[in-house]
Amino acid sequence: MTTSRPLPVLPAAGKRLAFVGKGGAGKSTMLSQMLAHWSDFGVPCIGIDTDIPGEEEHGTLYEHATAVDLGAPVYPAPAVHQIRNEALRLTPEKGVAALDTGAWERKTDGPHMAVLSAVDLAVLCMQPTKNELNRAASVLGAIQQLEATGAHAPRLVILLSMVDPRAASADDMDVSLAEAGYTVLRSRFHLSNGRDGLAQSFGEPVRVREGSEMDSMARELLDVVAR
Ligand SMILES: Nc1ncnc2c1ncn2[C@@H]1O[C@H](COP(=O)(O)OP(=O)(O)OP(=O)(O)O)[C@@H](O)[C@H]1O
Ligand SMILES: [Mg+2]
Repeated sequence: MTTSRPLPVLPAAGKRLAFVGKGGAGKSTMLSQMLAHWSDFGVPCIGIDTDIPGEEEHGTLYEHATAVDLGAPVYPAPAVHQIRNEALRLTPEKGVAALDTGAWERKTDGPHMAVLSAVDLAVLCMQPTKNELNRAASVLGAIQQLEATGAHAPRLVILLSMVDPRAASADDMDVSLAEAGYTVLRSRFHLSNGRDGLAQSFGEPVRVREGSEMDSMARELLDVVAR
């Protein structure tokens, strides 16, 4: 018997979200999981990978999706000036377009600003450290910069990632972030260094498991992006 609440109904035009944050925050790993879960739920979804890896660099969402079937198509990076139009064009009806990004960088003509101007929701993936608070401020500043120019700007939520399950720092950071006015998701992405944990999931088929951390995250993100 399933105890999960019903999934939200997304608008006809669909919704867009992006994962942003520093390199190694777990963005591509989580997004491949999210796409597999959403498609398993029957939610129309697609991925757009705006991360252009350097030579000999591996591990992008696009590369993962070409190695295994995530249940949803993942498109490679459009040119920066086409990111917004492509994201709008590719968003499925009543579904979700999820944009993956490379390591966060606030540059006026870079892909990150184009991504922020293309999505309804920016999900900042960050480790619960004081250092990372500065990055949150940089993302918030970028969103405010878009608002100031009258451009479309997304809502920002924070997803604590690479969280050590034994550490109290995530709870402390939750409190500090809320006091600073940020919205923090209930879902967390915990470190999982076991042999078959998510740390080793690249290129492996995604296991969709009801009640798992990824299942709850996929549901919470749908609820939040639907609002
Ligand atoms: N839960 C986890 N626990 C520990 N390591 C993990 C976990 N999930 C993923 N990893 C590993 O951490 C590394 C970074 O993950 P990932 O590539 O998803 O981050 P990213 O935010 O997309 O980085 P980039 O900005 O460089 O694209 C990878 O080697 C990945 O296998
Ligand atoms: Mg990545």
